[in-house]
Amino acid sequence: MKFFIDTADLAQIKEANDLGILDGVTTNPSLMAKVGIKGEAAVFNHYKTICELVDGDISAEVVSTDFDGIIAEGKKLAAIHPNIIVKVPMIKEGVKAIKWFTDNGIKTNCTLVFSAGQAILAAKAGAAYVSPFIGRIDDSGWDGVQLIEQIAGIYSLQGFATEILAASIRSPLHIVKCAEAGADVVTSPLESILGLLKHPLTDIGLAKFLSDAKAFK
Ligand code: E4P
Repeated sequence: MKFFIDTADLAQIKEANDLGILDGVTTNPSLMAKVGIKGEAAVFNHYKTICELVDGDISAEVVSTDFDGIIAEGKKLAAIHPNIIVKVPMIKEGVKAIKWFTDNGIKTNCTLVFSAGQAILAAKAGAAYVSPFIGRIDDSGWDGVQLIEQIAGIYSLQGFATEILAASIRSPLHIVKCAEAGADVVTSPLESILGLLKHPLTDIGLAKFLSDAKAFK
């Protein structure tokens, strides 16, 4: 399973990358706004910086919602760096655009996916990644991890090549559950990635080993 970090914060991206286990980065317009990036030039420049920091797939989201606008924007984003994956929303014009990008050699991540039907459409259009938002599904009283399991079952049965990118992660347990459910990629905030490190018995055990080691120094 691949690990992506879900942020536009350069310090957090560097910290995760330094762990040596990072395979890519996802962003969205809200994450860009959170770190104060405004205007097309600044956004494009920020994507370029992220691509220079991390050697992996970097999702860059379009903000157009009509076919021609999505294509024009996606082409410009894809030209920033070979590792850019154009992130396109799961809407009718988005599906058409994903098919166009697929036919023209541009890789896509279909975002804002909340059902198995949407995931089938994204795969049919040839998306490289499909992003089910599991935290937002949980927030609305449904089971996000169950959706990952359902999509993984369908893709495997039907032989779809689209990778399942579990997004909207809220905790380290979400990461573990998505791994069990068959996600190909999990994109998480830094806090959830670092949360995987923690276990009180590790801390207690290490403290004892270090104190016992003093005896033979
Ligand atoms: C990433 O691709 C998604 O845009 C992101 O995970 C959404 O997360 P949120 O539901 O916490 O905003």
